[in-house]
Amino acid sequence: MNYLIGIDLGTSGTKTVLFDETGKALAGSTVEYPMYQPQNGWAEQDPADWWNACVATVRSVLASSGIAPAQIAGVGISGQMHGLVMLDEAGQVLRKSIIWCDGRTTAQCEQITDIIGAKRLIEITANPALAGFTAGKILWVRQNEPELYAKCRHILLPKDYLRYKLCGVFATEVSDASGMNLLDVPKRRWSDEVLKALEIDPALLPEMHESCEVSGHISPEAAAITGLAEGTPVVGGAGDNAAAAVGTGVVEAGRAFTTIGTSGVIFAHSDTVAIDPLGRVHSFCSAVPGAWTVMSCSLASGGSLQWFRNNFCTAEMQAAQGLGTDPYALMDKQAARVPIGSNRLIFLPYIMGERSPILDSLSRGVFFGLSGMHTRQDLLRAVMEGVTFSLRHCLDVLKGMGVPFGDMLVTGGGGVSALWRQMLADVFDHPVVTSTNREGPALGVAILAGVGTGVFGSVPEACAKILSEGSRQEPIPENTSAYAPYYELYRRLYPALKDEFKILSTL
Ligand code: XUL
Repeated sequence: MNYLIGIDLGTSGTKTVLFDETGKALAGSTVEYPMYQPQNGWAEQDPADWWNACVATVRSVLASSGIAPAQIAGVGISGQMHGLVMLDEAGQVLRKSIIWCDGRTTAQCEQITDIIGAKRLIEITANPALAGFTAGKILWVRQNEPELYAKCRHILLPKDYLRYKLCGVFATEVSDASGMNLLDVPKRRWSDEVLKALEIDPALLPEMHESCEVSGHISPEAAAITGLAEGTPVVGGAGDNAAAAVGTGVVEAGRAFTTIGTSGVIFAHSDTVAIDPLGRVHSFCSAVPGAWTVMSCSLASGGSLQWFRNNFCTAEMQAAQGLGTDPYALMDKQAARVPIGSNRLIFLPYIMGERSPILDSLSRGVFFGLSGMHTRQDLLRAVMEGVTFSLRHCLDVLKGMGVPFGDMLVTGGGGVSALWRQMLADVFDHPVVTSTNREGPALGVAILAGVGTGVFGSVPEACAKILSEGSRQEPIPENTSAYAPYYELYRRLYPALKDEFKILSTL
């Protein structure tokens, strides 16, 4: 029997899972860390927290599974996309990472568009310059922290920093690199034209791999710290969404999933590069060689509920601790008692600004229709409904592009809630199906590690062998009709407030 490890560097924590070659999870471990918001609209994390969490979780799964390190055939790494990690000559981190949901780079994105031209940029990178993507962050550091930029010798994405610590190599892979605005997405390699135009030295960038290629091996130093065997292969891995696609079997055209993690995503596989000319959704390389993906990313989906939990549900958090349960399960029960429409209350989930589909870093969260009769429960349900409406808004864009959809698989923390899954089915007016894979991106990259090390012949073959679908929820027609006028009103709110968000940002 072969064993595989998947490491997923998420926003709320890093999760490592050890699997056998049938995809069975033998041990899992998660370590959480903070996100820093030094200014309204900014978001940073400390790469040292990521590495410490990686070490602790790898050590934990090795210890609790009892599997000898030499039996681990390969390691895959997945991670939050777009974050900028800068290292100096000695490989030391120069500043906290500016991460995917940071919205400070509006001006830099305008500069990138002016320099390269909107049309040419989309032709090459398959996406417009977006706040959140990495190129704008690089320019921001160069303009605002020039002494620090002068010391920068290596630019890495979050999971690729873990690879550097594990293997001592500077490498990345196509799915994650697609979110930098620096990759020629159709050709799957760095774009000389974009790098030259933006005056970014190509020597700063890591070596490119396909997601299932071996990119390095565990170094003697990392073996001593993590307990992994020296020389264990580490494959390219994937950005978290591309990894979740592999982990849910979304590896051929017509298959799609939605995730409610910190971000919210609608993701579809594509055999060609499918581009939204308005840039409302992203076109990236797939973790499957020779394929691409189209996906939306809403910045605060689970993130909105987490914000609500942290600020307004202390009682549930304490009760859950006492009962040994999850506070979200207790919150779910309360939201289920509130009728559709949250007693005429609508939430816009733009608490981190928004990317898909409105592309507005200056937008912010709104409770619309707040009344003296509303309770905390109404607000809670409104948050879940608002997040669901924002995902429907993205789905409408993908449908408008003619992307084909079969059943919608549901994954991420939000997918654990039967109430939220039904809400998705009702609001999408489309069946939703759970995956039996509860390990998300970690299984996806473990599969990639198995492909790269010869345990499996190909990604689709491994998915067919390992994955199966779980429960299915159909839309309930009365619910779909009840949500419809709320969704229509939701769609009117952002255009009505767009200019006011801009004014608010100047106060
Ligand atoms: C995708 C995106 C997020 C992050 C964090 O474009 O920004 O999904 O990868 O999950």
